[in-house]
Amino acid sequence: MRSMASSASSRGIAAIVGVGPNLGRSIARKFAHEGYTVAILARDLGRLSRFADEIAREEKAQVFAIRIDCSDSKSIREAFEGVLSLGFVEVLVYNAYQPVSWNPTSFFNIRIDSFEKSVAVSSVGAFQCAQQVLSGMVERGRGTILFTGCSASLNGIAGYSQLCCGKFALRALSQCLAREFQALGVHVAHVIIDGIIGPPRGPTRALVGEQQGRGGDVTMDPDALAQTYWHLHNQDSSAWTQEIDLCSSTS
Ligand SMILES: NC(=O)c1ccc[n+]([C@@H]2O[C@H](COP(=O)([O-])OP(=O)(O)OC[C@H]3O[C@@H](n4cnc5c(N)ncnc54)[C@H](OP(=O)(O)O)[C@@H]3O)[C@@H](O)[C@H]2O)c1
Repeated sequence: MRSMASSASSRGIAAIVGVGPNLGRSIARKFAHEGYTVAILARDLGRLSRFADEIAREEKAQVFAIRIDCSDSKSIREAFEGVLSLGFVEVLVYNAYQPVSWNPTSFFNIRIDSFEKSVAVSSVGAFQCAQQVLSGMVERGRGTILFTGCSASLNGIAGYSQLCCGKFALRALSQCLAREFQALGVHVAHVIIDGIIGPPRGPTRALVGEQQGRGGDVTMDPDALAQTYWHLHNQDSSAWTQEIDLCSSTS
């Protein structure tokens, strides 16, 4: 289930759920850079282990790769047994999502199992991951939970009901938890990424740029986005952000 780049320290853990080559990896790298022991979680353990080794080597940090499937309650429970065995989870970033086609899908062609899976990964998984770490945070009177949203968190989009319903629910979860737990020392925030993340993606990048009437150079730098996650974690409790909307200067 688990691949470890080195052994854990007694310091708080940053658990990043949903780590692929873009935002998840950048957030993990940022927290590792700042001295945190980091647990990175996703389904592809081979790829995760490579990321863990790379970040551990480059940032001289402790990084643990743990397999999780956020659409499966048992997998989440087992994964967090591994995470919690490393120490107190001080930071949880929930970043997992079920990718959707860049082309809208007619409502009549969306299968119920695909809809359920998308909602499960975007929001039910987030609910369960938060449940795994919140009692420890409340006990210590500190902790940060950051949820990653997108433009589909705020506005329904024709042809994207799976994504919108999951992300709307994630936003609601974030607001509810923020209002329930901030008085207990836990900072909960929802980060809306209003744009396209990542390195140039060939035809996709060109397509998006064309659709938006721009030259195609519309991607957001995941390392720059990760700075905001770090900043949110470090905010003074007298001035906590509950929701932030990030967009590129080209939007
Ligand atoms: N990409 C964009 O342009 C964009 C734009 C706006 C907002 N966002 C948001 O930003 C976040 C990160 O997106 P990203 O594209 O940068 O991806 P990323 O952080 O590079 O990787 C996210 C990872 O989530 C994992 N994942 C998917 N389903 C999962 C499941 N059932 N259980 C566990 N992990 C799962 C996938 O890895 P495995 O396949 O190994 O599980 C995927 O690589 C998402 O919440 C997304 O909605 C993205």
